[in-house]
Amino acid sequence: MRRLGLIGFSGSGKSSLAAIASKSGFKTVDTDSLIEKQNPEAFRLLEDGTEDDFRTLETSVISKVLKSDFDFAAFGGGVHFAHPVWKEIYESSLKLVYLRSSFENLAGRFEERPLCRKLGLEGYEKLFKSRCPLYEKAAAFVV
Ligand code: S3P
Repeated sequence: MRRLGLIGFSGSGKSSLAAIASKSGFKTVDTDSLIEKQNPEAFRLLEDGTEDDFRTLETSVISKVLKSDFDFAAFGGGVHFAHPVWKEIYESSLKLVYLRSSFENLAGRFEERPLCRKLGLEGYEKLFKSRCPLYEKAAAFVV
């Protein structure tokens, strides 16, 4: 089975591309939407300091997604080489595409994301810098 997954920092266009893929007839999943459907309070966990609980939920949603029938998946910005679900992604037939962008180019698109609100702009930029090599390591393709 051939299928693609989109990774990258918040605001890089993963969900927009997934929406285009869906409109074009590909079987598409957006894992953040599935997480929110399962627990509408899930994203608040990131702001309230219980990020591990969010990652546990995210891992279980993605594990299920990996076993389902889809062509195209958009993942949240926390999915990369060091995410707890990485091994399962690696062992699946999914090829990851990293939508690379600079922090400056993403500005204006991520300010309302829970982790940005929690960490502040400086902390969020540090997070961005720490994640870039992890996206690169996880991806089969970089665009
Ligand atoms: C997260 C990014 C979000 C969402 C959650 C955690 C992160 O997805 O999964 O808020 O860890 O950077 P987007 O990349 O769609 O904003």
